[in-house]
Amino acid sequence: MSLAGTRVLVSAGPTYEDLDPVRFIGNRSSGKMGFAIAAAAARRGADAVLVAGPVHLKTPDGVRRIDVRSAAQMHATVLGALPADVYIGAAAVADFTPRNVAPAKIKKQPGHDTLTLELVRTPDILADVATHLRRPRLVVGFAAETDDVAHNARGKLDSKRVDAIAANRVGVAGSGFESDDNALTIYWRGGEIALGPAPKTTIADALMDFIEERLAS
Ligand code: PMT
Repeated sequence: MSLAGTRVLVSAGPTYEDLDPVRFIGNRSSGKMGFAIAAAAARRGADAVLVAGPVHLKTPDGVRRIDVRSAAQMHATVLGALPADVYIGAAAVADFTPRNVAPAKIKKQPGHDTLTLELVRTPDILADVATHLRRPRLVVGFAAETDDVAHNARGKLDSKRVDAIAANRVGVAGSGFESDDNALTIYWRGGEIALGPAPKTTIADALMDFIEERLAS
């Protein structure tokens, strides 16, 4: 039980940003990566808290799960779950949300072939956790990248003031969104390590090994 006495807070899944009572802006995250991480933490004896966007996954054994829908809800719930020893942001959080949610279904307007939506930035959960008064000892973000993975991941390490970034390539078969498998490179200020390709459950265990080492150092 190498994480006994440690609280590990994980976010997983997509967020849904409502446009009206029937439509939303979402993304392809299934929650598999974040759920596997929470499960791995619980197996090692951690008090594992999982803040999950809308997904169709069973709660892993020993994990306390809190369901949310939007980026704003995930932000409030994650910050409300602090303090924690470790935060791992595996959720695919919307960067933008509609400025207004229409109270009734948006109708097609006769003679209008286009619809313009005004979107506003969502709060950055990861950056807010990393600069919080109750900052966890270890803050690990994810980066979902289609290109220039190393450069973009190292940029997020600094811009979000986190201790490590686990970067995965998205938009290719066998890693990233929806797949049962993934390949991650973890970047931190002192180095990097490649994990996988392997099932997300295996990757999650390797990530936990990294986290245990960092907590011990
Ligand atoms: O859920 P799966 O289908 O298993 O897929 C796994 C995954 C691809 C979703 C996962 O491995 C992953 O990469 N998650 C992060 C996706 C993402 O939103 O990456 P990003 O590069 O846009 O964001 C960088 C980091 O900032 C992430 O830790 C994200 O959680 C965080 N963020 C982003 C925006 C925001 N408003 N708040 C945040 O906390």
